[in-house]
Amino acid sequence: MIRKAVVPAAGFGTRFLPASKSQPKEMLPIVDTPTIQYVVEEAVASGIRDILMIIGRGKRAIEEHFDRNFELEEELREKGKTEELRLLRRISELANIHFVWQKELRGLGDAVSCARDHVGHEPFAVLLGDTVMESTRPVTRQLMELYESRRESVVALEEVERSRVGRYGVIKGEPLTDALWKITGFVEKPTVEEAPSNLAIAGRYVFPPDIFDCLARTGTGKNNEIQLTDAMRLLISMQPMCGLRFEGERYDIGNKLDFIKTNVAFALRRPDMASELKDYMRTLLASETGRS
Ligand code: UTP
Repeated sequence: MIRKAVVPAAGFGTRFLPASKSQPKEMLPIVDTPTIQYVVEEAVASGIRDILMIIGRGKRAIEEHFDRNFELEEELREKGKTEELRLLRRISELANIHFVWQKELRGLGDAVSCARDHVGHEPFAVLLGDTVMESTRPVTRQLMELYESRRESVVALEEVERSRVGRYGVIKGEPLTDALWKITGFVEKPTVEEAPSNLAIAGRYVFPPDIFDCLARTGTGKNNEIQLTDAMRLLISMQPMCGLRFEGERYDIGNKLDFIKTNVAFALRRPDMASELKDYMRTLLASETGRS
């Protein structure tokens, strides 16, 4: 049974500078809720209560967000703002959230290896702190169910346009069904010519604890970082791994354009702002068309 989730959130966020200079990109809001809260909510909706966040310098705001703020609660109580108070209390009661520091930012693989002591000898889920999933069935739940039936690592896969493969880790594999792939290899950020497929690793994984030994044996790779995909390559030399083209939509807020798109998409689904936003967008687009 999978009881624990690891959320890497220590990265520099260089693609989001200057906003990420002194605040974590994982705290950037999607409408009114920090990105990382959606990630925690997905883990909780998947049945996980024990969440370990990997953080580092400049990421204290994440800790504070999930902690209680008694002064603010008192202030809201005094002002009779009961709905805001309920929202605030809910955040700190979502799950048992733990934090560990990645002392040197040596890449995603290194971040995951910081979870070793906390995870111990259990299978666990990994949810990237800058990636939000929208789905009817939580994506992590979809992976967990597969792990439980197949007893092998599972990775979320997303079909991407061929021209964009260079932004992702891409798999090599054989289809078992329409949605399920047996993974036989990985290429990190390939050129269009190098890419063995257009199926990208989409920020959600379920691993057995054996991944930690693989990470310990993985040296620095591309960009001088310890790459999670290099450790996964080692893992598939010893045991099977599958990929699931999950049901749902992935939003990566780590780059500016996708962040804006995510905000627009989520805001358009909010009954309190959708209609006004649509009117605004229509007017804006009409005036832009007039200008061009
Ligand atoms: P990214 O590669 O998107 O994050 O990692 P980054 O390194 O912060 O981004 P750029 O390229 O500089 O803009 C995906 C997730 O893994 C975490 C990040 O915080 C992000 O949530 N991460 C990445 C770590 O925790 N530690 C690392 O060393 C690298």
